[in-house]
Amino acid sequence: MNEFEPKIICFLCKWCTYAGADKAGICRLKYPPNVVSIRTFCSSRVDTEHILLAFSKGSDGVFIGGCHPGDCHYQTGNYKTKRRVILLKKMLEQMGINSDRLRLEWISASEGRKFANTMTEFTEKIRSLGPFPGFEEKNDDVHRKVAENTENNY
Ligand code: FES
Repeated sequence: MNEFEPKIICFLCKWCTYAGADKAGICRLKYPPNVVSIRTFCSSRVDTEHILLAFSKGSDGVFIGGCHPGDCHYQTGNYKTKRRVILLKKMLEQMGINSDRLRLEWISASEGRKFANTMTEFTEKIRSLGPFPGFEEKNDDVHRKVAENTENNY
């Protein structure tokens, strides 16, 4: 019997969490190979479309890593990310999708251990949730709904 192996897309801010992932690698800390990292200039660069696209293209979980509050290189980018993720989690719940599939964490460049532990924990969480169930509506409808609801929240 094949055990379910989750696919997880990670959007990592290059100034902090991406460097934290590097640090984990340099320190030879182990974490599951289920995660695929995408480097961004700031966590706020990851918008709703990117997250929904990741889910609709086969990701079972989406992780966003950003600088700690007050450390964002673009001043308030991570505060915007936090608001966006809170809103999107509510939207996912409304669509019948467990919002734990989306996770936001602040991990700095020196926190290699935190990165490895968080990836291990998140992979286990997604494994326990099983494969992504898919959006019930057509993607266009989902995108439209999210756009309507997030217009004034950035
Ligand atoms: S620069 Fe890292 S979260 Fe904005």
